[in-house]
Amino acid sequence: MSPTRTTTQPGTQVPAEAVAPLMRGIAVLRRLTDADGSLTLSDLERATGLARSTVDRVILTLARTGYVRLDGRTVTLAPRLMELGNAYLSSIRIPGLLGDRVDALADELDESVSLAVPDGGDIRFVHQATRRRAMSLSFRIGDLLPAERTAPGALFATLWGPAQWQAWRERRVSDPEGAGFPSLPPRPGPADDLFEERVDAARADGWALDDQLIEPGLLALAVPVRDPAGGIACVLSVVSHTSRHSAQGLRDGLLPRLRDAAAAMESRLRDAPPGGSEPAPGRLASWTSASKQELGREFVESLARGLTVITAFGDTGAALTLSAVARATGLSRASARRALITLEHLGYVVADERDHRLTPRVLALGYPPLSRITLPRIAEPHLAALAGLIHESTSLAVLVDDSVQYVARAATHRIMNVNITVGTRFPAYATSLGRVLLADLPATGLGPLLDHAELRPLAPHTLTRRAELEAALERVRAEGYALVDEELEAGLRSIAVPVRDRAGTAVASINVAMHSSSRTIGECLEQVLPRLRLTADSIESELHTAARFTHVAVA
Ligand code: PHB
Repeated sequence: MSPTRTTTQPGTQVPAEAVAPLMRGIAVLRRLTDADGSLTLSDLERATGLARSTVDRVILTLARTGYVRLDGRTVTLAPRLMELGNAYLSSIRIPGLLGDRVDALADELDESVSLAVPDGGDIRFVHQATRRRAMSLSFRIGDLLPAERTAPGALFATLWGPAQWQAWRERRVSDPEGAGFPSLPPRPGPADDLFEERVDAARADGWALDDQLIEPGLLALAVPVRDPAGGIACVLSVVSHTSRHSAQGLRDGLLPRLRDAAAAMESRLRDAPPGGSEPAPGRLASWTSASKQELGREFVESLARGLTVITAFGDTGAALTLSAVARATGLSRASARRALITLEHLGYVVADERDHRLTPRVLALGYPPLSRITLPRIAEPHLAALAGLIHESTSLAVLVDDSVQYVARAATHRIMNVNITVGTRFPAYATSLGRVLLADLPATGLGPLLDHAELRPLAPHTLTRRAELEAALERVRAEGYALVDEELEAGLRSIAVPVRDRAGTAVASINVAMHSSSRTIGECLEQVLPRLRLTADSIESELHTAARFTHVAVA
């Protein structure tokens, strides 16, 4: 595993007020992130140098906040952790204001397009519209790259003063192999020493090119997106491959369009209403006291509270004073102050007089590995927990044409439906999973679908008349669940509820399937439905956090 670089500012002493448990918790999250999201407890103990009992307490606390999951001896980052990175991304407002433009440009050019911001002498991605291509690697939101091997880096370095150049030289000496950049492939050739010339060219030209600095074949062309004050708010890059463009062809062909897109983004930034609203007074911290009471000394309250401080920056678009942080979190001023001092020392917060802001380093707390999570991966632990609780099989499915397709499943050891596996498709009209999804379709989608569907009798009670099916779908809309009894298979009863995205659309459904002899319909509604709904709530809550600034694939 690669060492985590610069978790503290070089040459600075740990301030006396720093909260040691917060530092340890952050070290654990960094190790997990650099290891692509999961490690065993023993690996964590080795990687952090912490005592096993300390690792155990940190993990118990992070599990309680929903930031990690412990499965046997393996610790895995959980989607809720993305709320920290979301707080940073929403505080800078760039992805929210410019993200749709980036996506449109990627569609127009049919190439990957990204936005990057400076992170010290490095660059970090804050938005990615990725075209998956067999030949090139692609970076994720939150990935850190060294300035000298990227196109955005040359543009940001046009604004560096002597101190930043000095820090960059020191980093090159102290980390010649790039160990601090876990997402960077090994250097393809000898160390590249022409960075300063490229920065001069970027200053003169107003654009920069990465001609295979990261890996053979990879090309990137970048232009700055200026903020209203004339600084560089972020850098817009189009990423291609030598199999599709020569470096010169990329520049000649795409630079004008890239510049037009950047100009449109600059006017978006100019026209955006100013941020700066105070966060609503919150009681984020009150649950930490409750958890402390419940779990006792195993729960490290100062760690949970310190991380709460990061979430206070979300949605404000503004720098926060100590008092604002204390109000937003419900922490005492003294606790909020110590947390801010710790976060500043570690480089996650910068302070300018009384104003505090998050830095892009917050994205190093889990964002890259979690930013590619899919809905089935989000759902699996919740389905497994429900299956364990009620001893019946649970599944997640999506609508594909007029079928439902299983995309995640937690089976019990009962013999019923052993042949249902991920990938299995059934006609949507005869399953609870499908009815929930059909019921959510707009009339313009449902009508033609039913016009073409053949309602065949598959089991004793299959609804085969369109009017009956439409009445059943109306009931699903009113009641919020579908119960289907022996319509797909004799003896099979199942109940399903929708899983909705942030906009409220049912993007998937989950169900519990059982033998009709195992529970009556009444028992099904009384015992299973409430738990199924809670499971859907948990899945939705993680989905909504994960999908705030990334695209979460449903299958
Ligand atoms: C990317 O978005 O993946 C990217 C951008 C600029 C580079 C390299 C990669 O120089």
